[in-house]
Amino acid sequence: MMLGKSAMAFAVLAVGAIGIGMAGDEKSAVESTPSFEPVMPLYALMIEQDRHFEQIRNLIRKDREDRFGRLKQAGMAMAELANVNGYHDEAIKHADFRQWTLDIKSDGMKIAELAREEKLDEIKQVAKRINNTCSACHDKYQ
Ligand code: HEC
Repeated sequence: MMLGKSAMAFAVLAVGAIGIGMAGDEKSAVESTPSFEPVMPLYALMIEQDRHFEQIRNLIRKDREDRFGRLKQAGMAMAELANVNGYHDEAIKHADFRQWTLDIKSDGMKIAELAREEKLDEIKQVAKRINNTCSACHDKYQ
């Protein structure tokens, strides 16, 4: 059987990746990579998260140039901030805190995905759910 073009390209990439994995320099660079640590204090991160969520709410309320492109970017940015929040001390200490950060992360990515499909009503529903997650965590930890 002939391999398709993409299968061949994949095979070449895979062999290349193994080659890189075996190279001494690459290996030590990976081993010396420290585990992830947020640089922003939690409060500062929250200010940014709040800014992005407000941007999302404004874009839901009011049409403007490149509305869905902006929603996609803001959704991903909020997801990334939540992702970082998952590495803060509270998330390491408390399972519920960590779960809420994961919920915002996946809902932020969901907004980005729905923005690609221009599904405004569904974006509204996800934004409501995000709002509830913000409140749940604040009720206990803020
Ligand atoms: C996993 C927990 C958690 C989630 C989820 C969360 N927050 Fe927070 N938030 C906190 C904590 C803890 C503080 C207090 C931080 C401090 O005072 O150092 C805070 C503080 C804030 C503040 C500062 C309020 C003030 O005192 O002026 C804002 C604004 C904020 N959050 C917005 C949001 C928004 C918007 C969301 C949802 C998109 C959200 N947060 C989701 C934990 C969370």
